Amino acid sequence: MTPGNSTQPDTSSSACLKIFRGTSRDDGEYQIFDIVFEDGESVLDALVALRRDRAPDLAVRFSCFNANVCKECTMLIDGEVQYACLAKLKPGETQIDPLPNRKLLRDLITDTVSDKEKL
Ligand code: FES
Repeated sequence: MTPGNSTQPDTSSSACLKIFRGTSRDDGEYQIFDIVFEDGESVLDALVALRRDRAPDLAVRFSCFNANVCKECTMLIDGEVQYACLAKLKPGETQIDPLPNRKLLRDLITDTVSDKEKL
């Protein structure tokens, strides 16, 4: 293979992530991030990369990271409750919100413990 003359197909795409930020649903706002991703990357992959590189204060909960074991990465992705580690990135805009009907703690994190289970 000649350097600079790759035979590998370009598998990258562009997306715009519109992410809810804030500690109150009434006062929160959306922050827009334009990203480039590779085919097969998950929404959680993008959120972790954003935290690492551009928004270190972005609150997102996850534990097992793409093993779909912990069930902690649930959020609204384009209006559907999904696991961020399973949801694949797609070209174009994707809106990401915290779970509905749960107390919002910050950004994409909600209180997932029922009142009966709290100590
Ligand atoms: S990160 Fe554990 S289920 Fe998604």
